[in-house]
Amino acid sequence: MEFQDVVRRRRMVRRYADRPVDPAVVDRMLDNAVRAPSAGFTQGWSFLVLDRPADVGRFWSSTAPPGPPSRWLAGMRTAPVVIVPLCSKAAYLDRYAEPDKRGAGEQRWPVPYWYVDTGMASLLILQTAVDEGLGACFFGIPGDRVPALREEFGIPEEQRPVGAVTVGHRAADTGAQGSPARRPRRPTEEVVHRGAW
Ligand SMILES: Cc1cc2nc3c(=O)[nH]c(=O)nc-3n(C[C@H](O)[C@H](O)[C@H](O)COP(=O)(O)O)c2cc1C
Repeated sequence: MEFQDVVRRRRMVRRYADRPVDPAVVDRMLDNAVRAPSAGFTQGWSFLVLDRPADVGRFWSSTAPPGPPSRWLAGMRTAPVVIVPLCSKAAYLDRYAEPDKRGAGEQRWPVPYWYVDTGMASLLILQTAVDEGLGACFFGIPGDRVPALREEFGIPEEQRPVGAVTVGHRAADTGAQGSPARRPRRPTEEVVHRGAW
């Protein structure tokens, strides 16, 4: 697929067809994710891949609120694959203590690069899904569910999930979903400041 088509067609998919995803495609998503840029080439990301129904079920039972599933959850639960991108702040502390980074001072990171880098890797997962003709959705894991997720999958304390990505074949092209169905895309001219603010 042309790169421009990948960018334009990508949108979050929140309901999936009852079809498995080729494991080789998931591998390609992950191989592309690790091509993302990272500060100091730290690569302080990790990916928990859940591609068996029992494991996907454990993801939802540990992260979903109790009670009957919402429409959102009922749709998302149809995804055959969930990928949890995680980041390690400790990896950046270690990397930036290395000789070529020493002396950068207390303010080594004007923003938390561990989130920036893992976000960039996550976008490559989303774009690879589109390139493969699949759908995907990046979404947040409620902070109060993270301890249960850690416990369920043995995630070390220093690893922080930045969210999760559902992957699967699109159930149907239902057009814009979620917030884009309710609010417009901000025009480029509104967000770009050329030469001065
Ligand atoms: C950091 C981040 C967190 C998001 N969290 C959620 C979420 O919790 N649930 C959800 O359905 N979508 C979530 N989204 C998807 C956004 O709602 C979506 O990207 C946005 O509305 C634009 O729509 P599009 O990606 O389909 O173009 C998240 C996206 C990002 C980048």
